[in-house]
Amino acid sequence: MDSRDTDWDGVRLHVVTGKGGTGKTTVAAALALALAAGGRKVLLVEVEGRQGIAQIFDRPPLPYEERRIAVAPDGGDVYALAVDPEEAMLEYMEMFYGMRTAGRALTKMGIVDFATTVAPGFRDVLVTGKTTEAVRRKGKNGRRVYDAVVLDAPPTGRVARFLNVTKEVAGLARVGPIKNHSDLVSGVLKSPETAVHFVTLLEEMPVQETLDGIAELRAAGLPQGGIFLNMVRESLLPQAVLDTAVKGGFDVAELTLGLKAAGLADGDDATKIAEALAEEVVEHARRTAIERGERASLAEAAVPQYELPLLADGVDLAGLYELAASIRTQGVA
Ligand SMILES: Nc1ncnc2c1ncn2[C@@H]1O[C@H](COP(=O)(O)OP(=O)(O)OP(=O)(O)O)[C@@H](O)[C@H]1O
Ligand SMILES: [Mg+2]
Repeated sequence: MDSRDTDWDGVRLHVVTGKGGTGKTTVAAALALALAAGGRKVLLVEVEGRQGIAQIFDRPPLPYEERRIAVAPDGGDVYALAVDPEEAMLEYMEMFYGMRTAGRALTKMGIVDFATTVAPGFRDVLVTGKTTEAVRRKGKNGRRVYDAVVLDAPPTGRVARFLNVTKEVAGLARVGPIKNHSDLVSGVLKSPETAVHFVTLLEEMPVQETLDGIAELRAAGLPQGGIFLNMVRESLLPQAVLDTAVKGGFDVAELTLGLKAAGLADGDDATKIAEALAEEVVEHARRTAIERGERASLAEAAVPQYELPLLADGVDLAGLYELAASIRTQGVA
């Protein structure tokens, strides 16, 4: 892979986690587009069986198969794959035991379902195994097939367990193919080729989960990536005005005069409008103050931070490319 002088040169597997609903799927998709820009090939992997990737790219549900899903800016391709643990298990059995047919029979008997449900560690290693296989895969020319793989991962609360496959599988198998497989997977996940990124909002709960998640990751020896502050709203007023408003010192009388002078309202109307506006200003000021506090907390994690704007019209395809452009500008990809 050519060097682009970005913050994550050398990283081939970008894992994206975060509190539920903070924008993991959105950021993973935008990151994949950004990484593919300029003629590269990137695989975007989803593991939760929710078809979030298909939805975000406005496509029908994805089969268990790598499919080209988008063209990146300046050429480049994003492929997508929705990993299905059952299919991954059949593939695995064929690879290690040459027993695809037997695997089908086991599926019919409900044993595959049983194994993937009863042993979540096994299920996880199948899914991460499929992902790391795509990272390592080489073409006939001896070069890696994908320049990068982006994984839309489970939320913060589950991600360390999900990625810490060796530990989870240790209870299932100490020797043999499952153990070897999990060691191989773990080798990729814990290498400098992997980075685990966190998506957060500037709110108390997601920030706390991010800090906890980073600590858990460090303890497990997994490589941390950056923090994506998502849905960031720009501050509308100067800091001095915000500071005064938080303390309850916003001058309604002055605003009333201002509205009258500008011919926007008069009489009692002007007062009512000014009071309503003042309430909004105080609310905005309070939220901004909280956001500053959350930023300070996040700074303690001492990892690179990136900001993505709140898109007023939600995330359509154009919005996704906008976020991808922002990701590139900030030197992520
Ligand atoms: N920057 C943004 N601006 C506006 N809306 C956004 C932004 N990022 C995400 N959203 C919206 O927020 C919602 C949640 O985003 P997304 O599905 O990516 O989150 P998630 O973390 O993957 O959720 P889940 O935990 O359910 O998988 C979606 O409706 C998405 O369109
Ligand atoms: Mg999601």
